[in-house]
Amino acid sequence: MRNRMKTGLKSKEISLISIVLISATIILWSWEKTPSLTAFPPPQKTLQLTSEILSSVSDEERKHERILEAGKKSEAKRNEAEGKKTSKLKEHRETFVKNSPHRSSSTGKKDNNGNNATKIEACNYAKGKWVPDNNRPLYSGIGCKQWLSSMWACRMMQRTDFAYEKLRWQPKDCEMEEFEGLKFLKRLQNKTLAFVGDSLGRQQFQSLMCMITGGEEKPDVEDVGDEYGLVIAEGNARPNGWAYRFPSTNTTILFYWSAILCDVEPIDINNPQTDYAMHLDRPPAFLRQYLHKFNVLVLNTGHHWNRGKLKANRWVMHVGGVPNTDKKIAVIWGAKNLTIHSIVSWVNSQLPKYPGLKAFFRSISPRHFFGGDWNTGGSCDNTKPMSLGKELLDEESSDPVAGNAVKGTGVKLLDITGLSQLRDEGHISRFSLTAQPGVQDCLHWCLPGVPDTWNEILFAQI
Ligand SMILES: *[C@@H]1O[C@H](CO)[C@@H](O)[C@H](O)[C@H]1NC(C)=O
Ligand SMILES: *[C@@H]1O[C@H](CO)[C@@H](O)[C@H](O)[C@H]1NC(C)=O
Ligand SMILES: *[C@@H]1O[C@H](CO)[C@@H](O)[C@H](O)[C@H]1NC(C)=O
Ligand SMILES: *[C@@H]1O[C@H](CO)[C@@H](O)[C@H](O)[C@H]1NC(C)=O
Repeated sequence: MRNRMKTGLKSKEISLISIVLISATIILWSWEKTPSLTAFPPPQKTLQLTSEILSSVSDEERKHERILEAGKKSEAKRNEAEGKKTSKLKEHRETFVKNSPHRSSSTGKKDNNGNNATKIEACNYAKGKWVPDNNRPLYSGIGCKQWLSSMWACRMMQRTDFAYEKLRWQPKDCEMEEFEGLKFLKRLQNKTLAFVGDSLGRQQFQSLMCMITGGEEKPDVEDVGDEYGLVIAEGNARPNGWAYRFPSTNTTILFYWSAILCDVEPIDINNPQTDYAMHLDRPPAFLRQYLHKFNVLVLNTGHHWNRGKLKANRWVMHVGGVPNTDKKIAVIWGAKNLTIHSIVSWVNSQLPKYPGLKAFFRSISPRHFFGGDWNTGGSCDNTKPMSLGKELLDEESSDPVAGNAVKGTGVKLLDITGLSQLRDEGHISRFSLTAQPGVQDCLHWCLPGVPDTWNEILFAQI
C-alpha cells in the first residue's frame, strides 16, 4: 500500500481497504477458535510484565512497549490473512454491507444548550475528505509542554517532515464549525468532559487540552484530580488519570485510564499473585461512581483486546459475576463485542437519569504497520499525506462492532476509524522515544495531528 503513491484513491478502493480490515477481524475471530493455528505465542517478556492494575499508568515506557505488543499478533495474522484469504473478501463484504449499521445519528433530539442540534446531528462527519490547510495545526507541538507528553510530541523528536500537521478534515455536505478554544470553554461552562479509555483516549485528551489553550502555558488551570480519586496510589509513579479545570468558565476536562472499559477486580485481595476478574458485563467502578458528574463522556477501547495482554495482566473473563463458560464469548472478539455492547447499553440506561449527559463511543483508531509487525520490521514511514487516498464516502462505519453497539441507543458514535485509516503518515513511526531501535510505533499518532480532528468532530457534536 505504501508504494501506491498516487493521490485521490477512489472510494471503492478505500472501501476495499476497510473490507480487508473487517475480513481480517473475522478471520482473527475464527482463528481464535482454533488455537493450534496460532503461530505467535506471546513472548516471555509479556508474561513477566507487572499487572496493569498494579502498575496502572505508572511506567510509560513499558506500557508503550506493551501497547506496541498489543497489536503484534493480530497484525501478523492480518498480514497473513490478507495474503491467504483475498478470495473471501467479496463474501465478507456482502455479509457486512447487510449487517453494518448506518452511522448517521440523526435522532432529531433537542440539544440541551438550545443549539440547532437537529441540523448539526444530521451530518455524517465520517464522510468527507482531507484538505491541506495552512491554518493547521491548532497549537504548537513545541509550545504545548503543559499537557503534551514528550513521547507523542513529534516536533521534539528527530522527525523533520511536518506536512501531516497541515491537514483538515472537511465533512461532505455539511459545515463543521471551526474549533475555537474560548467557544469550546463557553459551551462547556460549569461542565465536565470525561475521556475514559486507553492510551489512544489519552492522546485525544492531551490533544484537546492543547487545542483549548492553543498550546499556550496556562498557569491558572487547576489540577482537580483529587475530586475524581485520580491520585497517585502507593507504589505507582502516576495516577489512573488526570483532571483539569479552567477557572474562567469552570470547565473540567479529565481522562481516566480504563483500557478495556469493564470492571476489573482482584479475585483474592489477600493474594499478591491473584488473578483479576474482568467483568465483561459490568462498567468500570470509576464510571459508576462519577457518571453523575459528567456532561460529556467519550469512551474508547480496542488495542488491549488480545490474549497476550489478558495473560500478562492475569485477567480472567467473568460474565454475570462468575467465570465465563460461553465459548462464543471466550474468543477475544466475542469478549470485546460483549463488553462494548454492555458499556454502551449501560450508559444508555443512565441517560434518562442524567438528561444533560452527551455520551459518545469513539470508534477504533486504526494501526498502520506495513510489511511486518511492530517488532519484525513493520513500518509506517511514508511521509506523504493522502498517499492512501483523501476521500471517504462510505455510509457505514469502518468499525462495525462500535457501530452496531450504539445502534438504537442514545449513545453517539464518534466515528473516526475510516478517516484516520487514510493517515498512515501521521504516526510516531520510527521516531518513537521509547521503542527499541528498529521498532516503529504505527499505533499512536504524532501530536498535533490526527486526534485533533477527532476533537474537532466532537466539538461539532456537543
Ligand atoms: C439556529 O436556528 C435559528 C432559527 O431556527 C437561527 O436564527 C440561528 O441562526 C441558528 N443558529 C445556528 C448556529 O445555526
Ligand atoms: C462549577 O460547576 C459546578 C457544576 O459542574 C457547580 O456545581 C459549581 O458550583 C460551579 N462552581 C462555580 C465556582 O461556579
Ligand atoms: C455557572 O455556575 C455559577 C455558580 O453556580 C452560576 O452563577 C452561573 O450562572 C453558571 N453559569 C452557567 C452558564 O451555567
Ligand atoms: C455482539 O454482542 C451483541 C450483544 O451481546 C450481540 O447481540 C451480537 O450478536 C454480537 N455480535 C456478534 C457478531 O456476535
